[in-house]
Amino acid sequence: MQSELCGSVTSGGSESILLAMKTYRDMAEAERGVKNPEMVAPVTAHAAFDKAAQYFKIKLRKVPVDSSFRADLNAVKKAINSNTVVVIGSAPAFPHGVVDPIEEMSELARAKKIPFHTDACLGGFILPFARKLGYKVPKFDFNLPGVTSISVDTHKYGYAAKGTSVILYRNAKIRHHQFFTVTNWPGGMYFSPTFAGSRPGGLSAAAWAALVSIGEKGYLEAARRILETADFIKKEIVKIPELKLLGDALYVIAFASDSLDIYKVMEHMTHKGYSLNGLHRPACVHIALTLRHAEPGVKERFIEDLKAAVLHVKANPSEKGSSAPIYGMAATLPVRSVVGDILKTYMDAYYKV
Ligand SMILES: Cc1ncc(COP(=O)(O)O)c(C=O)c1O
Repeated sequence: MQSELCGSVTSGGSESILLAMKTYRDMAEAERGVKNPEMVAPVTAHAAFDKAAQYFKIKLRKVPVDSSFRADLNAVKKAINSNTVVVIGSAPAFPHGVVDPIEEMSELARAKKIPFHTDACLGGFILPFARKLGYKVPKFDFNLPGVTSISVDTHKYGYAAKGTSVILYRNAKIRHHQFFTVTNWPGGMYFSPTFAGSRPGGLSAAAWAALVSIGEKGYLEAARRILETADFIKKEIVKIPELKLLGDALYVIAFASDSLDIYKVMEHMTHKGYSLNGLHRPACVHIALTLRHAEPGVKERFIEDLKAAVLHVKANPSEKGSSAPIYGMAATLPVRSVVGDILKTYMDAYYKV
């Protein structure tokens, strides 16, 4: 099996995901005559799947996650139908760092002869090493017979320069549907494997150099340092009575609060120079740990600053903050198209500067 594995180098996680979704749409039309393609993905799957759905006119059936933030298997089963071109799971998902039940999900897909994509953009260079280090890591890769493709980002925990990822397929028969050709263009016979036309070979070379210079030993050591840092931070967050951890994540740590406005805590941390991600549904923030956080003294300082932020928010309940109310409002506005328009207007303004 392993020798049949193949793929393409792409410009990033989003391109790897977009290419896989286009591939499955075209494959389902060619092989099964599917004219109204649908994808099935948990609500926690990365926004790049929404992007693929919008760009390629694939209906995205989103399924809920359970209380541990893993895809709800019953909902996955119900969402699969004769128009489904692919089922998706994350290893782990960006919001709460939790790995979906990929084994069970990919078996549901396989039973219906439907492809399954594992999004390991965030986990591809950590999870295999975490397993070697003795951490409990659920199955997520090609060892599962139902998994037909995996996206893995070299430019995240592969430590390559920004601008590379890989999309891997179980075999070249699937990848075939990724390719683009034009045969009647006056410019000549045209073919292209990925979205870009011309693209920088230097980035692929730099990614390769990162892989071979860091090597298995280097990735193992990097994972060990990140995971030990994560263990410390999780243990300390649990001790802060106002905060609670969400899900049993390894190194992307999401936390929320039942008694405080978590976005105010985030804002306070921003003033101290941290750049935590604000998430919603439910309201929480996360920190994605990297080697930076594994430097001596950083994790201890983070916890001290977090405790101080919590105490500040608790002691000043009437303090409104500046970004916290915007976060809160944007997360709860019922008309989502309005929020979408606001974001597009923000980008208009950004390009004007
Ligand atoms: C799980 C997951 N998938 C996909 C992506 C998209 O990757 P990129 O930002 O490289 O396009 C990310 C980015 O954070 C991610 O965390």
